[in-house]
Amino acid sequence: MSEEKEFVVTPWEVRGEIDYERLIRDFGTTKVDSELLERIKKDAGELHLFLKRGLFFSHRDMNWILDRYEAGEKFFLYTGRGPSGHTHLGHLVPWIFTKWLQDRFGAELYFQMTDDEKFLFNQELSLKTTMSFTYENALDVIALGFDPKKTFIFSNVEYVKTLYKIALEIAKHVNFSTVKAVFGFQNTTNIGMIFFPALQAAPCFLPSVLEGKNIPCLIPASIDQDPYWRGIAREVAPKLGYYKPAQIHNKLVPGLGKGGKMSASEPETAIFTTDDPDVAVKKIMSSYTGGRDTAEEQRRLGGRADICPVYHNYEFLFVPDDKELKKLYDDCKTGKMLCGECKMIFASKLKPFLKEHQKKREKAKGMLDKFMVKD
Ligand code: TYM
Repeated sequence: MSEEKEFVVTPWEVRGEIDYERLIRDFGTTKVDSELLERIKKDAGELHLFLKRGLFFSHRDMNWILDRYEAGEKFFLYTGRGPSGHTHLGHLVPWIFTKWLQDRFGAELYFQMTDDEKFLFNQELSLKTTMSFTYENALDVIALGFDPKKTFIFSNVEYVKTLYKIALEIAKHVNFSTVKAVFGFQNTTNIGMIFFPALQAAPCFLPSVLEGKNIPCLIPASIDQDPYWRGIAREVAPKLGYYKPAQIHNKLVPGLGKGGKMSASEPETAIFTTDDPDVAVKKIMSSYTGGRDTAEEQRRLGGRADICPVYHNYEFLFVPDDKELKKLYDDCKTGKMLCGECKMIFASKLKPFLKEHQKKREKAKGMLDKFMVKD
C-alpha cells in the first residue's frame, strides 16, 4: 500500500485508519454482498454473527467454493498463525469463524504455524522461542473446540519434509521481482524471507497432494495475509494443475492505542489470551477511545464509537446481542455514557471471557497430540 493513502496493510505491518472499501479495490477482491450471504445461509443453515455484521467483508471465489460444495465436493479449510508471541483477541476472530465453517460444512482444517517465518523476520526471536510459541498458540486453537479428527496443526519446522516438496514446486515459478513487488522485499531482506512465501502457499495444495486429487481450498483469514494468495498461491496454482485457493477476509480488530491493528509486537495495546484478567483490565483502563478532552465536551458533543477500539471489541467479540450493541453505540454517540463507564463495561465482559478461555486452554494441554502432525 502506498503512503498517500494514509494507511498501510501488509502481512507484517498495519498502520492508520483502514479504508476497507479501498482495500477491496486495491487488492482486487470482491465484497461479501447480500446475495452471497443468502447463499451461505442456505448452505450453512445459519449466518455467523461475523457475517451478519460485515466483519467478514471480502472474498475471492466463495461462489465457486459453494458451487463445488452444492455439487457434493468437499472443500478443506486452511489458516494459520505466525508464533511470535502469545495469541491476542484479534487472532481469535478468523479462528472462531474457521471453527464455525468446520462445523457447518464438515470441513477438514489444516493449520500452519510459521515458526520459520517469525524466526527469519524478527531479529530478536530465536528459533527455540518461535517453536515453543507454536505449541502455546496451538493451545488457543484447540481451546476453541475444533474437531480433533478433522484438524491438523503443524509447525513448519517440524513438518517441513512434507511441505518442502510442494514449496519447491511453487518456488520454481516465482521470481525475485515478483516477491519484491508483492511483499516489498529489498536487497537487504534475508534470503530465508525471500523463499518463505512458497512455504505459506504450500498448504493450499497439501491435501490435494496427500490425497492425489484436486481438493478445493478455502482460507479464512484477515485481509493482511492476502498478498500470499493474490501474489503467489493463486498465480502458481494453474501452472501446477491445482485449483486456485478461495479466500474470505475479516477486518482487523484494532489495538487499544490510536490506529493500527491489535498486534503482538505492541503488548501494551494488545489483550493476550494468557493475560492475567486484572492486567488486561489495566490495559483497558488506559485504552485510547477517541473520547473528548473533558466530560462536559463529551456530554455535549458525544463520543466517537466509530474510531474507538473498545467499541470495536464489543462488535467483534463481546456483545453478540445487536440491541445491546446499538444501545452502547447510541449512548456513546449522544454523550449519555462516558468512556470511563464504557471501559468498566468492557472489563466486566472481558474478565469472565479470559477466565473461561484460560480454563479451556489448560485442558488443551492434554490434547496436543491429537491435533499436531509432524514428519
Ligand atoms: P499472524 O500470526 O499475524 O495472524 C494470525 C491470524 O490472525 C489474523 N490477525 C488478525 N485478525 C483480526 N484482528 C487482528 N488484529 C489480527 N491480527 C492478525 C491474521 O490475518 C491471521 O489470519 N503468516 C501468518 C501465519 C499463517 C497464516 C496462514 C495466516 C500461515 N499460513 C494461512 C492465515 C492463513 C501470520 O503471521 O499470521
